[in-house]
Amino acid sequence: MTRLYIHEVVTRDGFQIEPRFIPTEEKIALVDRLSQTGLHKIEVTSFVSPKAVPALADAEAVMAGITRNPAVKYVALVANPKGAERALAAQVDEIVLVISVSESHNRSNVRRSTEESFAGFAEIMHTLEGTGMKVACGMATTFGCPFEGFPPLDRILRFVDRLVGLGVDSIALADTIGMGNPKQILEICNEARARFPEYGFALHLHNTRGMGLANVLSGLEAGITHYESSLGGLGGCPFAPGATGNICTEDLVHMLEQMGHDSGVDLDRLIAASRGLPALVGHEVPGQVMKAGKSTDLHPLPAEPR
Ligand code: COA
Ligand code: ZN
Repeated sequence: MTRLYIHEVVTRDGFQIEPRFIPTEEKIALVDRLSQTGLHKIEVTSFVSPKAVPALADAEAVMAGITRNPAVKYVALVANPKGAERALAAQVDEIVLVISVSESHNRSNVRRSTEESFAGFAEIMHTLEGTGMKVACGMATTFGCPFEGFPPLDRILRFVDRLVGLGVDSIALADTIGMGNPKQILEICNEARARFPEYGFALHLHNTRGMGLANVLSGLEAGITHYESSLGGLGGCPFAPGATGNICTEDLVHMLEQMGHDSGVDLDRLIAASRGLPALVGHEVPGQVMKAGKSTDLHPLPAEPR
């Protein structure tokens, strides 16, 4: 049995693409509910431009309003030095930087070249020196870009080298629009882990083409222990055409549990929280276990037809 760690992104990746603004107090209530489910990390919000992502314009208010469980790490996404200052002031436990491996998605997402993003990261790391702040980085479009296709392996590994060199504590290899397949995920995770065997790699997966949980199996095979997912399978990048939901947290935890892995998460509480999502976002959500119930939920046998 391997101990696995779940990083929940519904209130960031999930809500950033929702057309209806989720009221601040509802976001706070959901984070507080998720805080009682045994999740390792909760990505509460992002400190990006409110013009770029209006859905998360209330980042400070959400961070200030939540009740923190000391067992959970509360993290937030940051794309530039201004965002890092805001996240520091809001006392997040960890800053999650974001850069895309593909030049064109980086431009679409943060309106700068990847070189400019790296320069901004160096500035951020300098600012954070001595603060004790943990820094993670999401490497968007690692497994495919909607504009350029599949990035070359040497480019992916060069990005890993540079982020490790900058002193970033962990890297989430991200399949932003669900182009990754299990074979490719295994190869790239193996390469990254062979390069830095002790380093903290995570997988951030989307289920856009139905390969999400299959890709988790490849991650497990490669020895990845940290997974990013979204309650109900909400989510998507507003700056990537065709982006849809993250892998669904409760479907992921259910699969892991059935396979005998321990994620530390209380599945029943997670499912109950997910069942509140359709009313919150105003539409059905992609999650399957919240609809079907767990495989261990048995039903009474229907009466024999006469
Ligand atoms: N927080 C709040 N406001 C910010 C900000 C931040 N982190 N960064 C920039 N801004 C504001 C500036 O103050 C400026 O405001 P003004 O027009 O009132 O003067 C405006 O945004 C433009 O600033 P600039 O530095 O020129 O940014 P830009 O227009 O080139 O946009 C980003 C760059 C990174 C700020 C923007 O593209 C962004 O926030 N992207 C987020 C992407 C994202 O979250 N994607 C999904 C997750 S992967
Ligand atoms: Zn994502």
